[in-house]
Amino acid sequence: MNLRPVPAPGGVAGRTSVNLRQEYIPDGKWPAKKLRLVPVSLRPELVRPARLACMKALMITSPSGLDALTIQDTAEPTLKPGQTLVRVAAGGLNFADVMTTHDGYPGTPAPPLIAGREFAGTEQSGKESSGRRVMGYIQWGAFAEKVAAYPNLLWTVPDHWTDEQAAAFPVNYFTAYLAYWQAGMTSQPMWGQPPLRQAQGRLSAVGRREAPHRVLIHAVAGGVGTAAVQIGHILGVEMFGTSSSEEKLARVKELGLQHGINYKQHDYEEAVKDLTHGEGVDAAFEMLGGEHTAKSLRCLRDFGRVIQYGSATGKPPQLDVRALYAKSASIQGLWLTYISQKREIIEPAWNQLSEWIAQRKLTPVVGQVFPLERAVEAYKLLQEGKNYGKVVLKISG
Ligand SMILES: NC(=O)c1ccc[n+]([C@@H]2O[C@H](COP(=O)([O-])OP(=O)(O)OC[C@H]3O[C@@H](n4cnc5c(N)ncnc54)[C@H](OP(=O)(O)O)[C@@H]3O)[C@@H](O)[C@H]2O)c1
Repeated sequence: MNLRPVPAPGGVAGRTSVNLRQEYIPDGKWPAKKLRLVPVSLRPELVRPARLACMKALMITSPSGLDALTIQDTAEPTLKPGQTLVRVAAGGLNFADVMTTHDGYPGTPAPPLIAGREFAGTEQSGKESSGRRVMGYIQWGAFAEKVAAYPNLLWTVPDHWTDEQAAAFPVNYFTAYLAYWQAGMTSQPMWGQPPLRQAQGRLSAVGRREAPHRVLIHAVAGGVGTAAVQIGHILGVEMFGTSSSEEKLARVKELGLQHGINYKQHDYEEAVKDLTHGEGVDAAFEMLGGEHTAKSLRCLRDFGRVIQYGSATGKPPQLDVRALYAKSASIQGLWLTYISQKREIIEPAWNQLSEWIAQRKLTPVVGQVFPLERAVEAYKLLQEGKNYGKVVLKISG
């Protein structure tokens, strides 16, 4: 990793041109519209490099993969109206961070930019710390000593959690919760979709106990996967989870996973068929893409739902829509970047999640912690699928 300090943006004396930088506008519109070009004045009389406060940050300098990651000294963020400054203690690494170093990520500007989408730290007011420990979600800029964040995507860290646990919360738990929500399995109603049992025509007769919902969770030992198992356990769901490793599956079973499927040894479609006596699952949480979208659809029972939220294989999801007819099945997209701008969804989701946290039913699974200086190793672990649970970067404190 290149540790060479570079001048802070805007701190180069003698330039008189106007620089343009891309900026994310969280307005709830489609991401392409969220990028606007913002002029940054570099006139020497307006910019006093000596006075710019500097911070350490993990930068993505070009879209060339992990080699483009470098720690640099850069200017501290300037707060926009409504924003809060947070001194960052730890950052949660996501698969989206790996993707950003390669081909970029929708809604994220082209390099150079500061990496990182989620963090935990302490709120600052002026030069003082307010003392409130927070965890937050943004689109980039989290892997730095300081980050500017909007309060609607900042949540108070539970007292009994470490900074590393808090940094592992926002993306994994909101994504996993929203997957159950879109599958019709939470008490929070889903717009335009009947609750699952009603859709399946399986409304229980008074006093009759229903069989639990069934869910297939891919990458069950990963960040989102382990969060989905903890939430599924609370919801009383029968879970079928895939992983490449027996060791990882054994660890997830301790969280409540009932059926582990090692896809290196068994075809998961066949395994689901056998384990459910040919009935299939009510929902599949699908983040692999390629042929796995159609394969996961074949794992569904009537009126089942594929919740598509990624394509870790790098291949676009393949699906013949006609295959949906046979089971009246549906496929539902889930993208936290987009949904996070919808307060009417995120607030009730947080209300439910925080209730479970207070009851000590949710604890983020932190698999590995790396100091910021070893960020490339952390990214590599995730890129190669060798992580268990969340990979966290220790940033300061
Ligand atoms: N749509 C959204 O809002 C949203 C939000 C969060 C995450 N995601 C997506 O959810 C997926 C999981 O994200 P995460 O951050 O929680 O990562 P993760 O699950 O912690 O790590 C990825 C895991 O996926 C499995 N995997 C299977 N095929 C893989 C492949 N070709 N390359 C790499 N890993 C592979 C590996 O576990 P095994 O070897 O055990 O299979 C690996 O450990 C990613 O696709 C991500 O883009 C989407």
